[in-house]
Amino acid sequence: MSDDPHLLFEQWFAEARAGEPNDAEAMALATADADGRPSVRMVLLKGHDTRGFVFYTNSHSRKGAELAANPRAALLFHWKSLRRQVRVEGSVTPVDAAEADAYFASRARDSQLGAWASDQSQPLASRDAFEARFAELAAIHEGKPVPRPPHWWGYRVVPERIEFWMDRPHRLHERRLFTRAATGWNEGLLYP
Ligand SMILES: Cc1cc2nc3c(=O)[nH]c(=O)nc-3n(C[C@H](O)[C@H](O)[C@H](O)COP(=O)(O)O)c2cc1C
Repeated sequence: MSDDPHLLFEQWFAEARAGEPNDAEAMALATADADGRPSVRMVLLKGHDTRGFVFYTNSHSRKGAELAANPRAALLFHWKSLRRQVRVEGSVTPVDAAEADAYFASRARDSQLGAWASDQSQPLASRDAFEARFAELAAIHEGKPVPRPPHWWGYRVVPERIEFWMDRPHRLHERRLFTRAATGWNEGLLYP
């Protein structure tokens, strides 16, 4: 068992990718507004290393506005087939433009056009309006690479706390908590 939480996460994530029927990279992202009112939604993990956990979204969305007002977040992975969860808490920083450009360029063209077409979290009059907008943008960018929309960004959750929860018989589950120290990580167990 690794005593480095990033390494341990990579081990569990590899097992989840091998064992989960779909979306092993799906995670719940909790944010809160300036008054502390929480909200939560699913996003996809698109990068992980010792700096943190990266996801991409529209910075004009509800989550984007909440992160601008209160740049802290919690993440939750629940790998049902493995009966495991990982909880991550920390501050949030935008990835740099080159990193966001590189990831955007790797996406399918329709996803790139979708990022332009969607005013994420804003009211939408009808599905038809959205589809018409998508078709209009497809025509505008016809035959050309689709640039990254300036409001479409990656965010990195820089962890201060990472907890690994593993199912054990008789509800005597195992909880392993890592908290960031001045150098490295402190480690301990929690009652389940
Ligand atoms: C499995 C799953 C993965 C998702 N991944 C993303 C994602 O990576 N980025 C994103 O912006 N929205 C993603 N969504 C949609 C979000 O859950 C959410 O509807 C959207 O981002 C708007 O959230 P907001 O209004 O709180 O900002 C995903 C939804 C599901 C169910």
